[in-house]
Amino acid sequence: MRPNRDNGRSEGGKSDRGKSDRVRLRAALDTAEFGRSLKWYDSVPSTNNLAKRWADSGAPNGALVFADHQTGGRGRHGRSWIADPGLNLTVSLVVRPDCPPAKFGLITLAASMAVRAGIEACCPGVSARIKWPNDILIEDRKCCGMLLESAIGKDAAESFVILGIGINVNQASFPEPFDRTATSLMLGCGRPVDRMLFLADLLRRLEHLVHRIESSPDRVVREYEQALDAIGRVCTVTDVHSGARVRGVIRGVDTGGALRLETQAGVRLFHAGDVQMLTEAA
Ligand code: BTN
Repeated sequence: MRPNRDNGRSEGGKSDRGKSDRVRLRAALDTAEFGRSLKWYDSVPSTNNLAKRWADSGAPNGALVFADHQTGGRGRHGRSWIADPGLNLTVSLVVRPDCPPAKFGLITLAASMAVRAGIEACCPGVSARIKWPNDILIEDRKCCGMLLESAIGKDAAESFVILGIGINVNQASFPEPFDRTATSLMLGCGRPVDRMLFLADLLRRLEHLVHRIESSPDRVVREYEQALDAIGRVCTVTDVHSGARVRGVIRGVDTGGALRLETQAGVRLFHAGDVQMLTEAA
């Protein structure tokens, strides 16, 4: 059973754009839970921090924190996430999966598949790639990053995942050094993308895939491996803490979402790290 203590009404966001976007998102939402409880802000330090606080005080499954702008957006491994106001998506979702905490890592796989499928549906002809674990690339440039933070309590009511997603939607240019590595959906598709329609579609896909984690987690792993065009490619994985690099061939992911890398010393599992490809996709 999921806790349902705070059925958070929609609140926040005083700007006219915020109000009209919020109405348009609500009109487009086609989910049972995801995005139904909503906190909306014009500007906050980090949506992940607010979502965590909300979850601690009982936010329901699928509660969403939206910010038009983040002043202290956080990325993986202590990096920052920078996005121009009003053009992109910076959101965090409270997920209370009905599965053992060992499977929480699969949410990152599900979210990568949902974003990739959402991009390909809204930008026909554009091919989006997943870079393990959850970067989404268009033409080898990053358009989306995710920050998953879990809290494991003594029971299901105290356990949750905060899924923070940053998507460059309509940003036309990026400051150095990101001008060489970042892109946006608009740059990929050649036309602006409706942020609210994209978000509503993403929430629908995510809700569906999180249910699939609960019912058939192995299927989610298999589907993620199929979506990952890196299988069989040679890469290095850099341990972000020690800086050590390990070279090997990507063989897939394990049942919890860790990367399986075949190295000279045998198959190794990586739960975190930065992957750099050394060979092209077949
Ligand atoms: C990364 O690629 O390093 C992950 C970036 C995650 C950014 C998102 S934006 C919404 C949410 N709030 C944050 O502070 N970070 C995540």
